[in-house]
Amino acid sequence: MVSKASAPGKVILFGEHSVVYGTPAIASAIDKKTHAVVEIVSGDRVEITAPDINIESKIFSFEEVQEKGDTSIEAIKGCIREIWKLHNPTGLKIRVWSDFPMGSGLGSSAALAVALLLALSKEYGIDQSGFDMQKHAHEVEKIIHGNPSGVDTTISGSGGVIHFEKPDKIIPLELKTTLHLVIGYTGKHGSTKKTVSFVRQLMDSHPHRIKPIISQKKEILLEAEKIMLEAEEAMEESDLKKLGFLMDLSHGLLNSLGVSCIELENLVFAARKAGALGAKLTGGGDGGCMIALVKESDVDKISDAIISAGGTPIKTAIGPASDNKREND
Ligand code: MEV
Repeated sequence: MVSKASAPGKVILFGEHSVVYGTPAIASAIDKKTHAVVEIVSGDRVEITAPDINIESKIFSFEEVQEKGDTSIEAIKGCIREIWKLHNPTGLKIRVWSDFPMGSGLGSSAALAVALLLALSKEYGIDQSGFDMQKHAHEVEKIIHGNPSGVDTTISGSGGVIHFEKPDKIIPLELKTTLHLVIGYTGKHGSTKKTVSFVRQLMDSHPHRIKPIISQKKEILLEAEKIMLEAEEAMEESDLKKLGFLMDLSHGLLNSLGVSCIELENLVFAARKAGALGAKLTGGGDGGCMIALVKESDVDKISDAIISAGGTPIKTAIGPASDNKREND
């Protein structure tokens, strides 16, 4: 038998980094996916093909799968280890690939974890009703990101648009209007592990400055949280102008935390100059991607502006008509 699955990447519309400290975030799955194809084969070897990380038919012994390391193949090995907690090891042939760049802030490692765990669990005949996908995906994500909030694996597993709060509060948000986004990829790899740890150091050394921006405290509403709540209202009311303005504000907060970079700023300002309703970095920052909220009629114009500023545009739409759910083929 061959088992296939796919899971969507994501954009964080509001609340990256602050979500690590318990503040809510709004995340949306996108119509770009990561795919996994898995087959049980005879023998005691695991063959992995992952063109996005330049791996072509690489063979691993069972012992090598169990060894933990820090290479880009670790998420794939991590998924196999998680499933081998539920099923005896067997020979495997695995192929994974993505419609969007890896390490670009679009949740490629979370989408890979969800798609591969789904395909593996299906191939091993594991009862899906008792299978805690989020728990296993979170364990895999920890290998790559250290101490993730869980927002990436949650949105990749749920699809749609969600309000998320650590550890597992999810409120699906129903958009009445389609939001047209142009994602701008800087081409610079952004390490979420590094930026999350950078913000943690900043929080430890300057708590009186950083806490009021992002860290959750029940008695006061923080800047990041105020923006988030207003953004939910703006989405409900389909007030795109306000939503864009809040995205600009959110980018300002993230910039004040030091997680932007010149490549992201160039794309953010190019998109705004070309008429975007709002633009901000998305995900961990220090490279990776930004997003611009645009009128449908401006999608091409803003994409061109991103190209002129040195980035790669990815056009996407979220909301009622979006194909952004995980799939068990
Ligand atoms: C990464 O997509 C989002 C961050 O908030 C990290 C996390 O939530 O784990 C930067």
